[in-house]
Amino acid sequence: MMSAQPQAIIVHKTGGPDVLTLEPIEPPRPGPGQVGLRQTAIGLNFVDTYQRSGLYPMSTPFVAGNEGAGVITALGEGVEGLAVGDRVAYQGQVGAYATHRVAAAERMVPIPDGISDQTAAAIMLKGLTAYYLLFMTWPLAAGETILWHAAAGGTGLLATQWAKALGATVIGTVGSEEKAALARAHGCDHVINYSTEDFATRVRDITGGRGVDVVYDGVGKATFERSLDCLRPRGLMVSFGNASGVVTIPDITLLSRKGSLYVTRPTGAHYLNQRSDLLAGAAKLFAAVASGAIAVEISRSFPLADAADAHRALENRETTGSVILIP
Ligand SMILES: NC(=O)c1ccc[n+]([C@@H]2O[C@H](COP(=O)([O-])OP(=O)(O)OC[C@H]3O[C@@H](n4cnc5c(N)ncnc54)[C@H](OP(=O)(O)O)[C@@H]3O)[C@@H](O)[C@H]2O)c1
Repeated sequence: MMSAQPQAIIVHKTGGPDVLTLEPIEPPRPGPGQVGLRQTAIGLNFVDTYQRSGLYPMSTPFVAGNEGAGVITALGEGVEGLAVGDRVAYQGQVGAYATHRVAAAERMVPIPDGISDQTAAAIMLKGLTAYYLLFMTWPLAAGETILWHAAAGGTGLLATQWAKALGATVIGTVGSEEKAALARAHGCDHVINYSTEDFATRVRDITGGRGVDVVYDGVGKATFERSLDCLRPRGLMVSFGNASGVVTIPDITLLSRKGSLYVTRPTGAHYLNQRSDLLAGAAKLFAAVASGAIAVEISRSFPLADAADAHRALENRETTGSVILIP
């Protein structure tokens, strides 16, 4: 239930999950180009933990969180094309862990009928990441083979279904047998439990020695180097996250030795900063959900006040699919 007094989780000092506590805030009022939102659902993302811990530098204090959905309650000066009462969702806008917030109007995406606020909050950041990685970083073609690490995770579960719908052969890694079953039921043709098997050896077996066209790796430090051994010559390594730690490349000749490989370390801000790209991606994402190509699995929801528990669960690899916070 939402309380009458607006509340937010403000990080005053970066650190462990305990720094996330809910406190009262003044009712936020939109400035020029902004909207005021009463939030209905908030998405949990690994990037929230990097900002909370200080891995990604932030100036404090800041309201945690990057993804959410809600109803527009007020329009700032100069805002056009949106109205009070519209249901909207957003991603990449710090300040999501709150009952009420203001945000840039140009980053708001209207939620279509038939998509709930909770579903929108569960997919805006993770699903649009899947979108730009599969359609822009490497326009994935039918018949190509990819490896997706943490395939049962928030981004992984959405992306592997989408890649499968695009006609790719999808190999996914997971950390447990329970997650393997989930990944298999959601788009993966082959699933490797990388806590018990050497994933590069298995990928070579599965691909008849050829290797995959693209590796998508949000796990980072623990999987980066072995992932290079999964690629075909001139394949692409997409290192898009650091759940296990930040990747460093000690010696760039590694890439020539392992097959004249390409490596990119993308982030959404450089793909979705144009409103036209944001809306095009969201339209494709909502259509994929509406058609059933992507089933959205919200495995857990936490009250906003329990955001610290949600962070602990995510960092301890206890979650699958999308997790949301309810204000
Ligand atoms: N660059 C971008 O634009 C962008 C956008 C969104 C997300 N990301 C990145 O994508 C990755 C996934 O994000 P997400 O929010 O969807 O999270 P998530 O996949 O739901 O959770 C992370 C998963 O990573 C795996 N993992 C492996 N080693 C881990 C470790 N030492 N600690 C924690 N987890 C570990 C776990 O799955 P297993 O137990 O199956 O190994 C865990 O469930 C993150 O690195 C995130 O930063 C990047």
